Amino acid sequence: MAEKKTFYITTPIYYPSGDLHIGHTYTTVASDSICRFKKLLGYDAYFLTGTDEHGQKIQQSAEEAGKDPQTFVDEATVTIKALWEKLDIDYDQYIRTTDPEHIKTVQAIFKQLYDQGDIYKGQYEGAYCTPCESFWTDGQLVDGKCPDCHREVQQASEEAYFLKLSNYADRLLKHIEENPDFITPESRKNEMINNFIKPGLQDLCVSRTSFNWGVPVSFDPGHVVYVWIDALPNYISALGYRNDKPQLMDKYWPADIHMVGKDIIRFHTIYWPILLMAAGLPLPKKVYGHGWILLKGGKMSKSVGNVVDPVVLADKYGVDALRYHVLREMTFGSDGIYNEDLLVSHINADLANDLGNLLSRTVAMTVKYFEGTIPEKRTGGDFDEDLQALALQTPKSVAEAMELPDCSKALEHIWKLVSRANKYIDENTPWLLIKEEDKHPLLANVMYHLTETLRMVAVLLQPFLPQTGSAILEQLEVPETAQTWESLQSFGRYPEGVTVVRHDPLFPRVELPKKEKEEKKKAPAPKKQPTSQDQGEGKITIDDFAAVEMKVAEVLSCDQHPDADRLLVFQLDLGSEKRQIVSGIAEHYQSSDLIGKKVIVVTNLKPVNLRGVRSDGMILCATKGKKLTVLTVDDPEMKVGAKVS
Ligand code: MSP
Repeated sequence: MAEKKTFYITTPIYYPSGDLHIGHTYTTVASDSICRFKKLLGYDAYFLTGTDEHGQKIQQSAEEAGKDPQTFVDEATVTIKALWEKLDIDYDQYIRTTDPEHIKTVQAIFKQLYDQGDIYKGQYEGAYCTPCESFWTDGQLVDGKCPDCHREVQQASEEAYFLKLSNYADRLLKHIEENPDFITPESRKNEMINNFIKPGLQDLCVSRTSFNWGVPVSFDPGHVVYVWIDALPNYISALGYRNDKPQLMDKYWPADIHMVGKDIIRFHTIYWPILLMAAGLPLPKKVYGHGWILLKGGKMSKSVGNVVDPVVLADKYGVDALRYHVLREMTFGSDGIYNEDLLVSHINADLANDLGNLLSRTVAMTVKYFEGTIPEKRTGGDFDEDLQALALQTPKSVAEAMELPDCSKALEHIWKLVSRANKYIDENTPWLLIKEEDKHPLLANVMYHLTETLRMVAVLLQPFLPQTGSAILEQLEVPETAQTWESLQSFGRYPEGVTVVRHDPLFPRVELPKKEKEEKKKAPAPKKQPTSQDQGEGKITIDDFAAVEMKVAEVLSCDQHPDADRLLVFQLDLGSEKRQIVSGIAEHYQSSDLIGKKVIVVTNLKPVNLRGVRSDGMILCATKGKKLTVLTVDDPEMKVGAKVS
């Protein structure tokens, strides 16, 4: 039998000096999803994470906590591991830089580089930023402060060992230029070349004597190894490089991806490759520098007191909602914004409305129309081909996105399929098919297509939202043989004769956070601008009217609001985008009455939340007394997106 292809992915090892926030969560959730996806593809994939436990910063944090550093890091590690367990992070190894085996590796590399003349002893005179654990020359400081975190630096003057980075600069540049994927995305590559390598690499100070919480230099124990030179080799010490751990170097090295935040890409694309070249080892295939999760006001920081705790969010909204939010929000290499409103709207719109409804409608109809078991006798329908084509294309598109890797894009592809399946329900109107006996085979066919699409969605979702993927597969009773990557290569692997059972909704809709709602209520009403009406004319100008943007939209689906009898929740197609609008017309229309109709929508109203469901616009109606009619457009030439003026 052919051996499985291997795949090795790492996260940075985290400093255990403060609680991890939602930003840290992103790297680990993304790496976990990427690794799970590779496993689905059939790879022998290995995922490493861990903690970076040495250095001046940790020693200071331990002192502040009144603990010895070892006790401090032991306790912090327990908390970090618990966080990963809570978030369903399925790592293969957790490395700690205080592991004796790791220390052995670091000492062996340091000694080798010293023996071969890449490391030499000298005197360090310059600035050191303890929070960033970075050395800086005076020329690199910005207004005398750390160029990375803008905090005060300390002047350091001590005997130290240095690594001759310049010995390897040309080889490194050549490697980066010849391997376009080595630093991803491209923008980060240019930054490294132009700002660091081309101006000339200064020799790097690689030992400290002013504190002792670190790996001692084996042949000069007054020195401890600089924390980055201690931390970076974790990626190979974990694989047993020059230590007694299980020997995995041959199997997994070089790493396929080091996932790192943009702030530490320099360490991974300059110091780390040079260390590896000096040690005679191949370089990792890709260093992926992702963006940061920011708050509206900027960076999250403990000192500002605005850190967002992932444990609190996971408890409040569920693990998969949190995973979905960070994965979807962080588009390829760019920064993403965290705010609770956005998280809630991801839950209500994408998870509860799109995915949750697709599942609950499909299962509810299968139970109602066929007592849970779709009959074998089926006949093809008009819209099948389109749905099947997208269902077969989606695994390919997801795999392509994951090559980058871009989890946000991958999820976008899965959601396109979910939307297509929801549209397929509306195109086929199962509630009408049931009324005509001779249409029942067609109805069975519709239900089969929906169930099969959901199977494919669930298999694809598992790496990203493991609990949700499994819950759908379980609810649909999908056998293991229909949960593989291979099973996604053809449409129709959902077995005949399976009985589905209704469960609780996957994602109940959530209300906006209370605090924000109260703040909105308290906020003073905006000052009214004088209008032409105020000036006594009772009329508006053409400019006033032009400020209202109206378009033709098609009703894709319509559901009863979960918490308000009066309200209907519409999904609308505006041509260039889809919209959700909540409208108070339930007294006048049934959910299915307007599906497929073209209506007129005000598109530039500020979105509001109506009983916890986001409404982004308004559907125009005419009223007379108690009678209400939604304004519709009959002309088939008038396509969705047409402007109303
Ligand atoms: N210990 C070093 C890494 C050594 S790897 C050999 C370190 N640790 S850290 O705990 O400060 O950061 C770990 C990771 O979290 C980094 O990749 C960093 O970019 C990432 N993030 C920290 N804040 C972040 C956000 N707000 N958003 C996304 N990632 C963020 O650096």
